[in-house]
Amino acid sequence: MRLARFIVGRIVVLVVCTVMAVNLMAEEGAAVYKTPDYGKFTEAQAIGFNKTAKSRATIYTRLAEYLAGRFDLGERNGVGIDLGGGPGDLAVELAKRGDRFYWINTDVNSWNSGLTLTLAQEHNVAGKVGFVFADACNLPFRDNYADLMVSRGSYQFWGSLADGIKEVHRVLKPGGWAFIGRGFPPNAPEAEVRELRAGGLAKAPKYVPDEDAILLREIATALGAAKVEVIRHKPEDATLNYGVWLVMQK
Ligand SMILES: C[S@@+](CC[C@H](N)C(=O)[O-])C[C@H]1O[C@@H](n2cnc3c(N)ncnc32)[C@H](O)[C@@H]1O
Repeated sequence: MRLARFIVGRIVVLVVCTVMAVNLMAEEGAAVYKTPDYGKFTEAQAIGFNKTAKSRATIYTRLAEYLAGRFDLGERNGVGIDLGGGPGDLAVELAKRGDRFYWINTDVNSWNSGLTLTLAQEHNVAGKVGFVFADACNLPFRDNYADLMVSRGSYQFWGSLADGIKEVHRVLKPGGWAFIGRGFPPNAPEAEVRELRAGGLAKAPKYVPDEDAILLREIATALGAAKVEVIRHKPEDATLNYGVWLVMQK
């Protein structure tokens, strides 16, 4: 009888320990960074998106105008990084608006490197725009490096939004700013946004902008960012979706 109780006791301890170990592994597994399958980012994809980007140039000019005004780019020197910048339209437009600001366009699809260089040359800013392969969730930049980090229409593709924003916070200089989101900046005229939306803007994952706004604010606040603002521009025509933007200062 005593032996039977002893055996049952051991079995219970073994089962409890196994459950705890499996839970721990699951938690650790969730935190492990998952490397994207780089092979799936093809030249055809980069060329295809380049055509899309060129057909809606006003998005980048409006956004660059807005960022240049908001962050004083005409007056400052510094280093800016665009995350998931594709063929470089935003980086090039930003480089045109500040003589002493150097822009690094980054993307997980390295086929965008040549497209970025070609575009920079066409706009006479080849000396102010470069390209670096970078996964937003695992950036190849040292801590406290960048003055301004931007990203448009890319965060929804990152392996982890929290990891990406954490990397942005790490790479920003203290006092540096990030402007990350999707959609249109508040200065884009409603007629322009209406036309672009009507043309079927992108085949991006569907989302609820107000939910992303909450998530972005939560992530940035948890990182201890010095300032956090979330822009959800509400135009007169309430049916128009301007997207969502996180503005974060380190
Ligand atoms: C819809 S495009 C947007 C490109 C550009 N920002 C724009 O607004 O035109 C999304 C881009 O995000 C890139 N991307 C996807 N996953 C990424 C990741 N984990 N890190 C960096 N870029 C990524 C894609 O290769 C693609 O170029």
